[in-house]
Amino acid sequence: MDYRTLGRTGLKVSALCLGTMQWGWTSDEATAFAVMDAFFEAGGNFLDTADIYSRWAEGNPGGVSEAIIGRWLRARDCRRQIVLATKVRGRMWEGPNGEGLSRAHIMQAAEDSLRRLGVEAIDLYQIHSDDPGTPMEETLRALDDLVRQGKVRYLGCSNLTAWRLMKALGISERLGLARYDSLQPHYSLVHRREFEAELKPLCEAEGVGVIPYSPLAGGFLTGKYRPDAEPPASARLGGVRRYFNARGWATLAAVEAAAAERGVTPLQIALAWQLAQPVITAPIIGANTVAQLQESLQALAVQLTSAELAQLNQASADDGR
Ligand SMILES: NC(=O)c1ccc[n+]([C@@H]2O[C@H](COP(=O)([O-])OP(=O)(O)OC[C@H]3O[C@@H](n4cnc5c(N)ncnc54)[C@H](OP(=O)(O)O)[C@@H]3O)[C@@H](O)[C@H]2O)c1
Repeated sequence: MDYRTLGRTGLKVSALCLGTMQWGWTSDEATAFAVMDAFFEAGGNFLDTADIYSRWAEGNPGGVSEAIIGRWLRARDCRRQIVLATKVRGRMWEGPNGEGLSRAHIMQAAEDSLRRLGVEAIDLYQIHSDDPGTPMEETLRALDDLVRQGKVRYLGCSNLTAWRLMKALGISERLGLARYDSLQPHYSLVHRREFEAELKPLCEAEGVGVIPYSPLAGGFLTGKYRPDAEPPASARLGGVRRYFNARGWATLAAVEAAAAERGVTPLQIALAWQLAQPVITAPIIGANTVAQLQESLQALAVQLTSAELAQLNQASADDGR
């Protein structure tokens, strides 16, 4: 396993991060344990979760993914070997302060996450998305307090626009607060513009680590969805359908051509395309099974040439039309 430092911190994380949104949604606890075991055995040390995972699944009150990770950490006694990332922002309890990035919500939500995870500190505490209804200074001061209290070690953010991230970095610097050292953007070969337009140069210039989510576009880039066939059953199908268009299929065709040429799978090309970009610290993969995880881990051995990268970039170019 390759390890990289997260942004300008000294924190070493594996080049693939294991996302855990699926625990208690599309993977049961026994499978979750097996996937985390296999990831850990392969040298993976970076786990991403969120307090809300997965409230949208029927019967899931949220917090389930964190609770499963907490039980796994205790069962395997490997807390020190793991870099634990979670998030705050989504609705976790009733009432006007049951969601958001106010001091009131963050302080309670952090305690709840620590309890479910069964740890004394969260390694990377990320805001899940923006909250325009709370002054940024309030959010950043609350997060900084958590760092000073030793309950959180590093801060990160997700789903921020470039100007909001830059503003946050400016406030942290001006006030001498801990800053967002990582960004978790939505990024894949079929979803490029949101990150590449402004966030990418910003992260490069400011030394913010980048841990993209949905690098396989929810499974679309594995090639299991075909333009001319009924889609296979998947809880992800609703979200994946957005790529069922001319650019999506053309991108997939280029990924499949590159995969056939090398004798690897489309999934491995899609991940290798991200791993080849110096701005990216670690893509966050969402394996449901050990077999899915193993296929993703093998992408670490695929080093694309500049000609292959150029072909993929051209086929997936998004000019905004
Ligand atoms: N910050 C945010 O707002 C945000 C949003 C979304 C996700 N995330 C994070 O990012 C992580 C990954 O996101 P994601 O699940 O969208 O990532 P993804 O890698 O784009 O999609 C994962 C899905 O691809 C399919 N897949 C994976 N390996 C496969 C294989 N070998 N063969 C066939 N299908 C395969 C599975 O779907 P099937 O169910 O069809 O098997 C799996 O659930 C999450 O767990 C979470 O930690 C963050």
